[in-house]
Amino acid sequence: MIDLHCHLLPGIDDGAKNISDAMALAKYAYESGITHVVCTPHIHEGYFDNDIEIIESTHEIFKSALRREGIALKSHFAAEVRISPTIVKMAKNNRLPFLGYFEKRPVLLLELPHSHIPPGTEQLVNWLKGEGIVPMIAHPERNRDILSNYNKASWLRGKGLLFQLTAGAITGTFGDKVKQCALKMLDDGFADVIATDTHNLHKRPPELAGAFKFVQDSFGKSSAEDLCINNPMEIAGCWFND
Ligand SMILES: [Fe+2]
Repeated sequence: MIDLHCHLLPGIDDGAKNISDAMALAKYAYESGITHVVCTPHIHEGYFDNDIEIIESTHEIFKSALRREGIALKSHFAAEVRISPTIVKMAKNNRLPFLGYFEKRPVLLLELPHSHIPPGTEQLVNWLKGEGIVPMIAHPERNRDILSNYNKASWLRGKGLLFQLTAGAITGTFGDKVKQCALKMLDDGFADVIATDTHNLHKRPPELAGAFKFVQDSFGKSSAEDLCINNPMEIAGCWFND
């Protein structure tokens, strides 16, 4: 399986705190059936002021440690970018780290606040699309605006975006309401990718196998393979050609 959303890089956001944490997460991921990851630290102005250079150099340290520890997890980097007007500037200056490509267009993992869908979302999404960038919304099933009004998910989906659901949301880690929302999205064909959004071992582990099994049992094996293997590999496979 391939995980397109995880916070494995050490010390630059609220995921792995240090390199030993990062290795423990990587080992768990690999042993639970994740063969490839795209590490997506937060870029969130004022909270996690990461940029491409910081992420790339931290990823080099992470990759060296994987080699040293003999963990055969294949890895690349991107970012989970919090929605903000500065995204326009970042895009214009080629400062957005992309997850990969979908139909030859770069894919941006875009995070909305958990509390709501902020005003301006539609304009930003339209602008990105006009620039040939495909936004993939991180964990829409956990957004409170969507949880209280599912029509907002349909509306957002109608903008031609990709949706990344969280593995733990499907298996129930985030509670029943989030699970029901995630299942409805699966049912409606709104899900493009399932990813872990791993932050740590105890509460948000690199656990994709449980969601794979759940989707396989409820929607069939090919759905599980599409969401956990084929679709994410179609997007990020370009990083793993060697
Ligand atoms: Fe995340």
